[in-house]
Amino acid sequence: MNRVLILNGPNLNLLGTRQPEVYGATTLAMIEDACRAHGETIGLNVTCLQSNHEGVMIDAIHAAKGTQDGLIINAGAYTHTSIALMDAVSSVAIPTIEVHLSNIHAREEFRHRSYLARVALGQICGFGAVGYHLALDALKAHLEPT
Ligand code: DQA
Repeated sequence: MNRVLILNGPNLNLLGTRQPEVYGATTLAMIEDACRAHGETIGLNVTCLQSNHEGVMIDAIHAAKGTQDGLIINAGAYTHTSIALMDAVSSVAIPTIEVHLSNIHAREEFRHRSYLARVALGQICGFGAVGYHLALDALKAHLEPT
């Protein structure tokens, strides 16, 4: 069974109470539970990790080499700033999908740039928590084409 790590970055631990008008009322624990369940349904083994620290996220990406078959990353604000995270993803060469709850292209200009987008298979944004499910489906199709 293919293994997928869902990595969430800074401030996403506050989902549910953080600007619910932008990010929704669903907590990260609810999203992670639903992703594990969806993974089981479609035949992916899902592991979830959240960190507010760039270095911890980079270590998790490095550790994914040889232990995970795909990555789903919502890097929060590091999306827009972190060349180091982009380099980590390209260094491990694991198929990666970038997710954002909000439509970053419809928001402030500083959110329009994503360094991760340069190294991701694709980006899913604007669909709230459903975006993680869409990313799991997309990874499944990529890893196990029918
Ligand atoms: C976010 C969008 C980012 O711009 C923001 O900094 C976040 C959350 C999203 O999921 O919509 O922390 O990644």
